[in-house]
Amino acid sequence: MSKIPLSQKLQQKLAERAAQDTLRQLKTTAGLIDFCSNDYLGLARSEKLRALIHKEEEHYRHLPLGATGSRLLSGNHGLFEELEGIIASYHKGEAALLFNSGYTANVGLLSALPQRGDTVFYDEASHASMKDGLRLSFAKTYAFRHNSVADLRQKLKHATGQVYVVVESVYSMDGDQAPLRELAQVCTEVNAALIVDEAHAVGLYGSKGEGLTVALGLQDQVFAQVITYGKAMGSHGAAVVGPQVLRDFLINYSRAFIYTTGLPTHALVALKCAYTLLPELAPERERVQQLANRLYQKLNKLSGIRCTPEDSVILSVFPQQPRQLKALAAALQQAGFDVRPVLPPTVPAGTERLRVIVHAYNSEEEIDGLVQAIAKGT
Ligand SMILES: Cc1ncc(COP(=O)(O)O)c(C=O)c1O
Repeated sequence: MSKIPLSQKLQQKLAERAAQDTLRQLKTTAGLIDFCSNDYLGLARSEKLRALIHKEEEHYRHLPLGATGSRLLSGNHGLFEELEGIIASYHKGEAALLFNSGYTANVGLLSALPQRGDTVFYDEASHASMKDGLRLSFAKTYAFRHNSVADLRQKLKHATGQVYVVVESVYSMDGDQAPLRELAQVCTEVNAALIVDEAHAVGLYGSKGEGLTVALGLQDQVFAQVITYGKAMGSHGAAVVGPQVLRDFLINYSRAFIYTTGLPTHALVALKCAYTLLPELAPERERVQQLANRLYQKLNKLSGIRCTPEDSVILSVFPQQPRQLKALAAALQQAGFDVRPVLPPTVPAGTERLRVIVHAYNSEEEIDGLVQAIAKGT
């Protein structure tokens, strides 16, 4: 038995992080220009949404503030079902099931759905919540090279049982898109179920912000979409959209759905209202892309800087010397810009970068100011 006090062991683990210069700390950044949050369209700060929520909440005064229990016990009521109907039709699925967050939705879906003897192929750049869900599953799992359909095809030789392919439509760190059409084609060929996490595409892609699956017309080839609400929807929570039988299955087998209290009423009202506003936000969708393109073009003209990818509101900025990264981020914050470095283990060693997120509410002056500050800091 270990004689070292637990607190000392924890301190050691923290000291390891500090020595690698990767210690994480909570910060507040009020007053800085936002190039960090996931509030792409500005809904989290929308006065119109706030007013709509206040008004709509009056209609639901008969409901409790909190769900009061698991939805399988005391925690279910009509607003859950009403909202799930709205979500399913918005994302062109047969049914939807709400989860308490995107993290929980991925864990709840991927731990429950693939069974022992089945095989899951997932993109190596998939979000931690997808990997954590798969770690809880009894299925065999294989990572394929990021966005490489060729590598997926190669790895398919390991397939047994029901096959699943798990990807993000827009990758949270790299900001690039999955080759969804090709992936859907492979899945059709081998009868695999394609699961797409739409966390960073919802709100931004599709004529009404439905996400990339619907924007590409692939809803009938995608078995399940994971829709999250903490990003462009300005709120919190998530839903799995797919066939009715999947919803019924998750209600029965997804522990992350069963063994937790349902979302509070105000969260459901906020989501209903966000869905009411989402179709109107075409100008914001266009503006955020234009601003992101402006930043991409200007940054790639600087020497010693590489910025990727094109046509994304999530940009990665790589200085020539990765060692400069933390100092550069600190200098940018000092200059008033909320920009964060992304370090291992969040991204693989050697791919450290500044992650810059553009929003519809950023101004051209803010974009140009950021470019100047990056030029000065490198
Ligand atoms: C791709 C992806 N999936 C899921 C999540 C988790 O969503 P939430 O923040 O709602 O838990 C995130 C958030 O970081 C994400 O980027």
